Amino acid sequence: MERDVSTTERVGAATGGMHDLRDWLERVEAAGDLVRVEGEVDWDQEMSALSYLLSKTPASPAVLFERVRGYPNECQLLWNSLNASRRTVITLGEPPDRPVLESVRGLRDRLKRVIPPVEVDAATAPVNEHVLLGDDIDLWRFPVPRHWPLDGGRYLGTADAVITRDPDSGLLNVGTYRMMVHDQRHVGLYVSPGKGAELHIARAWQRNEPLPVAAVLGGDPILFLVGAQAFPKNVCEYDYAGGIRGEPIEVVKGTTTDLPIPARAEIVLEGVIRPHAMRNEGPFGEFTGYYARPEAQTPVVDVTAIHFRARPILMNALMSDAPSAYSSIMRSAGIWADLDRLGIPGIKGVYSHPGAVRGIHVISIEQRYAGHASQVLSLAAQCPSGAYFTQWIVVVDEDIDLLRNTWSTPLDPTQNPPEKRPYGSKALINACKEHRYLPVFAKRTRMTRDVYERALARWHELRLPGHPPVVPSFEETAPATYHESQELDPPPGPASVS
Ligand SMILES: Cc1cc2nc3c(=O)[nH]c(=O)nc-3n(C[C@H](O)[C@H](O)[C@H](O)COP(=O)(O)O)c2cc1C
Repeated sequence: MERDVSTTERVGAATGGMHDLRDWLERVEAAGDLVRVEGEVDWDQEMSALSYLLSKTPASPAVLFERVRGYPNECQLLWNSLNASRRTVITLGEPPDRPVLESVRGLRDRLKRVIPPVEVDAATAPVNEHVLLGDDIDLWRFPVPRHWPLDGGRYLGTADAVITRDPDSGLLNVGTYRMMVHDQRHVGLYVSPGKGAELHIARAWQRNEPLPVAAVLGGDPILFLVGAQAFPKNVCEYDYAGGIRGEPIEVVKGTTTDLPIPARAEIVLEGVIRPHAMRNEGPFGEFTGYYARPEAQTPVVDVTAIHFRARPILMNALMSDAPSAYSSIMRSAGIWADLDRLGIPGIKGVYSHPGAVRGIHVISIEQRYAGHASQVLSLAAQCPSGAYFTQWIVVVDEDIDLLRNTWSTPLDPTQNPPEKRPYGSKALINACKEHRYLPVFAKRTRMTRDVYERALARWHELRLPGHPPVVPSFEETAPATYHESQELDPPPGPASVS
């Protein structure tokens, strides 16, 4: 792997001058891929419902809510940033109509170089325009959204980049993990087992030590892109982001931790996870489209500083049954780069299906030796970029176009010897819920009819494009409105900060 690259001249700034979320929004808007909503919307399920419906329209645009009811002139909220491959392609600095497989191939090459972040002057860094410390820390001054009616709380960090340091090696990890706001200075962090931050927390707690944390809640989407992908654990995602960019990510040292935070981020929390500090978190409408995990204990982050720019942009990702391309291109390129690192010859393409909740990866190879195909299958199933939550891996010959379906015929050449033709075979997959577990099956994430009708009524007023899609079923058991159910936990007092 190429390391030691410290100058832009040597590798070229591959993403052409995009350095922060505001540059990214300009590009996305110029590509006609951004909907700005100027009318006031509610943080309580309304933004999420509109984002969901927009994600189901053919254009599936990103959406920026510029005004939130009860929060005058403060935060803007971006949703649906990278849930379409087109916008991942823009994030990579490429024309949005570039064929996806070409982007995958190019990104695979860029993942082979790593460029560590560079520290810049903290005094002039935009992320330090506002820094709240001590008693001024109040997460409720931000319009933290509630996504789904049965969510256990209001969530930050659904499209974030959480930075932690390995207590053993000192290596940094950047991962995308959600946070439920417990109160004005505490959040519950959900990290699934085996993920980078989870290993760091476990090691710190074994030593009875606190673990410092920084969370980028809005910033250059390249950090969200690398944060949401599993990479080899001995390389920091900051370095991959620099490699993809062709120039180092600019960082400043945190104010209350020694963690490097992006100099041009929109909102960053710093905090500490104290030994064995846990509180109940969830449930949360997950990426599977279900509330699969009941409320349970997760580590608590005690927030020690909040940094933000003027009129900051909070990034959010709605987890739902809508096809999601969050990781498709990055994961495809990651698996390909891993196979290349392992020295496997003949890989012609990798495609991780964007609509597949459980990973489905198709790998095209030129078969060079006996056992080559099954070696590729086994390694792709266990390599760092491919292992997590993958259920299907298909290996195909290089003459198969990964992106097109083929019509089957009695002349199917896979049926051998030829006298077996025209008898084919079919794999039948029963994808229904297991009948005997129907009564206890996890609940589906669905909006309430009331929220849907409110969204429909406001669609044209908010100047949203096209027509809102039809939603086939609704949540019937949720409380009528979230505000009513929160009376014991007073809603936030907004404060104007810009
Ligand atoms: C939109 C989005 C939200 C995610 N939220 C979480 C989360 O809350 N917790 C989690 O463990 N993984 C979450 N993931 C998956 C992780 O980001 C992913 O597994 C990544 O590999 C984690 O980084 P790590 O490998 O450095 O631990 C999310 C992924 C996406 C695309």
